[in-house]
Amino acid sequence: MLSITKKSRHAHPGAQHPTEGPGVVPQNTEPPVKAVELRNVSVTYGTTVALEGLSLHVERGETVALLGPSGSGKSTALKAIAGFEQPSSGQILLDGSDVTGTSPAQRGIGVVVQSYALFPHMRIDSNVAYGLKARKLPKERVAARVKKMLEMVGMEEHAHKLPRQLSGGQQQRVAIARALAIKPQLLLLDEPLSALDASLRAEMLIELQALRAELPDIAMVYVTHDQSEALTLADRIAVMRNARLEEIGTADELYNRPRSAFTAKFLGGASLLPAVSTTVARGGGAVATVRVGQHRMRAVAPFVLAPGDRAKLAVRPHAWQLETGADNAVVSIENSLPGRVESVQWRGAGHRVQVDLIGIAERVTVDLPALSAVPTPGALVVLSVDAQHAVLVPAGDTP
Ligand SMILES: Nc1ncnc2c1ncn2[C@@H]1O[C@H](COP(=O)(O)OP(=O)(O)O)[C@@H](O)[C@H]1O
Ligand SMILES: [Mg+2]
Repeated sequence: MLSITKKSRHAHPGAQHPTEGPGVVPQNTEPPVKAVELRNVSVTYGTTVALEGLSLHVERGETVALLGPSGSGKSTALKAIAGFEQPSSGQILLDGSDVTGTSPAQRGIGVVVQSYALFPHMRIDSNVAYGLKARKLPKERVAARVKKMLEMVGMEEHAHKLPRQLSGGQQQRVAIARALAIKPQLLLLDEPLSALDASLRAEMLIELQALRAELPDIAMVYVTHDQSEALTLADRIAVMRNARLEEIGTADELYNRPRSAFTAKFLGGASLLPAVSTTVARGGGAVATVRVGQHRMRAVAPFVLAPGDRAKLAVRPHAWQLETGADNAVVSIENSLPGRVESVQWRGAGHRVQVDLIGIAERVTVDLPALSAVPTPGALVVLSVDAQHAVLVPAGDTP
């Protein structure tokens, strides 16, 4: 199983007891400060419902990723928070105050979008100074703040250049510096890395992670369709699907215990196999027994199942063990299914194998780590999975 390194949670001013100190037991009685809260927010464009009844909050110091396929309503949610679009119903609160209906300028939010959006005719330092000048700050304070912001993103040497003299990654750093210059309590980022090539994207992701650590009090909403960005940066991930929130939770919860087939597939790339419960499953994460085709399989059941109830068995590509040349071995290997290798793809860090299950019209994706034995197309194999790494999700929800 691919393990997720658990990110340490940021220090959380609202969650600390004010009298906390040596010898004082923290009480943790104060509710966390909600930097932003959406209450049942819907946005429509003509007859298109772009966002339907979205409710979520982001605590101060927290990063929430909105993750979902194109057209699922992520950018619309961000625009509603920023004030660029007004909800057709619902409320938006910043730090507990209702800001629904106010203009973007009144909200004082930092926004970074996909396409840098720097003013092309303005020097880099003027771009970063823009929001500060609009707030009529004294010249010296503007200059000091611009210098500090450019230093923070490593762009101080480029202050006098124009945007077109910079690479895409450099322009995006300037866009982040500009958004942060006004000291926003909330930073919204809409696919900020998607215009960059793969290696630069990886580099910028590390920089964003470092930047995040430098800004412990800022709340962030990070829109992306890329699961690795969400897993790297977010404290919690909100999975979006068809204008609705599908599921929200920590990366760990969603990755290891998805509650829907959509999340299992979108976030973990899981294969989903039709399963029928053979016993009473009491739910709550206890291991249940199901039938997949003619085979008995054990899997984690987060919800209650009666005998005969249908579900989907979700298994991520890394969770499968693959044994070759073991034609009838399926009877002797715990929790296993027989199959035939359809294709093998080398992916640098290991091999991806597609296996057609025998007796079940399903194809399963298996990721083999580097240095493991690689089967050839056509070979008979046995796939097995630890019951803890096989999760049942509701059947009615096929992606
Ligand atoms: N300005 C607009 N006018 C009409 N429809 C829009 C507009 N912006 C977005 N939409 C539609 O709303 C839905 C959600 O879009 P969006 O929030 O941009 O999705 P995402 O950011 O997840 O790709 C899509 O169906 C999109 O076509
Ligand atoms: Mg978008």
